[in-house]
This record gives sequence, structure tokens and C-alpha cells, in this order.
Amino acid sequence: MMPASGSVVVEARDLGWRHASRREAALEGVSLRVERGEKILLTGNSGAGKSTLLAALAGILGDEEDGESMGSLSINGTVGMVLQDPDSQVIASRIGDDVAFGCENLRVPREEIWPRVRRALDLVGLNFPLDHPTRYLSGGQKQRLALAGVIAMEAELILLDEPTANLDPDGQREVVEAVEKVVAETGASLIVVEHRPQLWAHAVDRFLHLDAEGLHEITSSQLPTLPILPAAPPVPANTPALVEACELQPYWGPPRNLELPEGCSTVITGPNGSGKSTLALTLAGLVAPVGGELRYAKALRQGLIAPPHKWSSRDLAQRVGYVFQDPEHQFVARTVGEEMAVSGGAQDRIDDLLHRLWLKHLEHANPFTLSGGEKRRLSVATALVNTPRFLLLDEPTFGQDPTTFVELVGLVRELTEQGVTVASITHDELFFHALGDHEVRIR
Ligand SMILES: Nc1ncnc2c1ncn2[C@@H]1O[C@H](COP(=O)(O)OP(=O)(O)OP(=O)(O)O)[C@@H](O)[C@H]1O
Ligand SMILES: [Mg+2]
Repeated sequence: MMPASGSVVVEARDLGWRHASRREAALEGVSLRVERGEKILLTGNSGAGKSTLLAALAGILGDEEDGESMGSLSINGTVGMVLQDPDSQVIASRIGDDVAFGCENLRVPREEIWPRVRRALDLVGLNFPLDHPTRYLSGGQKQRLALAGVIAMEAELILLDEPTANLDPDGQREVVEAVEKVVAETGASLIVVEHRPQLWAHAVDRFLHLDAEGLHEITSSQLPTLPILPAAPPVPANTPALVEACELQPYWGPPRNLELPEGCSTVITGPNGSGKSTLALTLAGLVAPVGGELRYAKALRQGLIAPPHKWSSRDLAQRVGYVFQDPEHQFVARTVGEEMAVSGGAQDRIDDLLHRLWLKHLEHANPFTLSGGEKRRLSVATALVNTPRFLLLDEPTFGQDPTTFVELVGLVRELTEQGVTVASITHDELFFHALGDHEVRIR
């Protein structure tokens, strides 16, 4: 990498990268020039190479052993990147140390680090003492923490990979506002990747779209949008509950009372940190409640009498399906094809799911090497091969482009049409519109 001249921060020509484990390039023929202070929104389908492009600009793709690089790239200034996965980037147990980490790596003198850390935390609006534990932060706060790290490094180019994908609406607004303030005050250049570009459109100067033909300049009116999906039907009168919680006390949060109507799609909504995942794990029998009662209808118990958390994992898996918030929690096989086959389902169904979820070309790829959106689709797909009577999905559509989002929504609807009872945690208003036959709102 050589420095680019003057006001140009990034100059890339015919940039490309092929991972050593793949035949196809993840990124090809990308040319890009970014001027100092420019703010860019980058869109493109899941798997198009957006994260790869950011990683190339940040210089973290690796060396010849990791893959083959093409084209030329020059960067003028310090680059700070916030990764796609919100949890993986929290490094230290206290917020001050976490923000200081990047500076330490850059060997900033110690006496300069702490004033920088304080300023950065102030700028992103995290008004906590420096020893505040990072584990107490919500999703939106963790994103702002990562952003503070990049600011403390005095990054001149800030790269954000889907910074709001897992956040509730308040968290999303907080992050967009913090980013706007930061770039206004520091004059840094910005590239932000998002599947829901409308959130950022007002905050940027340029729009770029990445697809099989390469990187194009687009206008705000050409930004990817979702089609209008049919609204969820109301729950028919007298629908029995398949699952009922009576003063059910998960290990976190207050006791809950709720019903999941049989054969319908329930959407569980509520702010980050309100205990949605804990509740869902408890409803699925994967975690024992601290108190109260979890009632499964006879049709779901199929002869079992003990409370669900005491069932054998085999008995439970035959009755209840679960898709974890973190896709990687679920991967057990070496390839996408094997991951699907582990479920023991029919090959026709597996092929159909792989095609519909744009994963067929990745059949031989290692699940851990997939893009963020591809990992999410694979983890949902494995739960759909043999669907039990009750399925819980923890944020099934995060990181999806319009096409894959619509496909996932359609697959869930097909399940309820077959009588499966589905409950999904989501922050997504469009998912709620299409699949919120019933809502459980958590506070
Ligand atoms: N570590 C890796 N090893 C091998 N292939 C990879 C690796 N990371 C990504 N890929 C592949 O490179 C291609 C581009 O991935 P990338 O993560 O850049 O996509 P993306 O546009 O960011 O997608 P998403 O919107 O789903 O995050 C995909 O086909 C993906 O499977
Ligand atoms: Mg990505």
C-alpha cells in the first residue's frame, strides 16, 4: 500500500480478492476514489463482497496464504473499522480500556491516550465512568463504543459494516446521530454498509452499489427498497394456545404471561437488553425457568409429562426448533451441504431451501467462512429442513437484502400455513408487518 496524494483518502484500481478456499473471487474489478471528508453509503446483495471491500480498505484481508489479491490500492491516513458482528468487537471488560485498545496498537503515547478516550466517549454520547463494565452495555451502546475506539485512534477513514443491523429503533437512531456528529467534528471520511439504506440516506453525500458487474455510483432514488408485502392476517377467533407462559420467570427480567396461538406467527418485540432471547430460550425448554409455569398443549407434548426443560435433547428437538441469535452457535459441520444434511431431512427439501436462500453455490463452503447474511440464512435453513410443530427464531432476517428478506418471510409463512406455530424475535418493522399475526411486546 502506498499513500494516495493530497485530498484523496482512497484510490483503488481494479481491486479484487479471492479467498484461498474459494474458486470464485469475493471481490473483483472494483475502482474507487474517496476524497477527504466524503460520506458514502454502500449497498449490495448479501454475498456481493461489501465486507470484503471494507476489509481490503482496512488492510485486514490477510496475506498470500489467505488468498489472492488483485489490482492496486493506496490509502492516505489512519483507517478505523467497526466490524459486522456487534459482540465480537468488544475486547476489554471496561469501556475505557476497550476504547484505548486501538490507540495502544498504534503506539500512541500513554499520556495522550486517556484524553483521547474521554473525548471519544463524550462524542458518541457514552457518559459512563471509564471503568464501566462493557458487559452492561446494550447493542446500541456497544456499537457506539466501537465507534469511540475508531475516533480515539483519530481515524481519517471510518468504515462501518452494518452498524445498526441488530439494534432496536432507538439504538439505530442513536448510532446514526453519533456517526453524523463524529464525522462533522472530525472531518473523517466515512463508508457505511447497510441493507436498509433509508436510515442513512440523509447523512451521506454519495451512494455506491456493489453487484456482479462491480461497483457503481447510484442516486438516492435507485437505493434498494423492499416490495410491499401482504399484511399479516389477524389470529382467527378461538385459536387455542400451543404454548402458554403463566408468571413464567426466566433467569433474567420480570415474570411473563403470554400465549402463542397455534398455527400462527407471533412476533416478540422490545428494546435491546429487555430479555427477549432469554425469554425465547425459556419458552423453547432450552433453559430452566426460575419460577412460574410453561404450559405446552398436548399436541406439542406428544405424551411427555415432565416440564420441557427436563426433556432429553432428542425429545425436545423432535418437538421444538430453535434458531439462535448468533448463527455460529449452531454450526456443527464442515460444509454448508453437510450442515443441512445433519438434520436427516429429505434431499429435495434441502435443495429447495439452498436454492431459495441463495446458498446453493456455497454447498461446499465451510459455514464459518460465509458472509454475515449467508450465515444467518444457513442457520435458519437448517431449522426449516424438518420443521417441528413449534419453531422459535431469534432475529431470523438480520443482514438480509430485499430478495433474501422476502424469501425468508415467505418460508416462515409457508410453515404457519402447514400448521406450525412460529415465534420470532425481531426489531424489523417490515417483518412485523408481514408476520405479526400476534405480538408479544417485552419491556
Ligand atoms: N473468510 C472467508 N473465506 C472464504 N470465503 C469468504 C470468507 N468471507 C467471505 N467469503 C465469501 O466471499 C463472498 C463475499 O463475502 P462478503 O462477506 O464480502 O459479502 P457481503 O456483501 O458483506 O455480504 P453480507 O451482506 O451477507 O454481509 C461471499 O461469497 C462469501 O461467502
Ligand atoms: Mg457483510
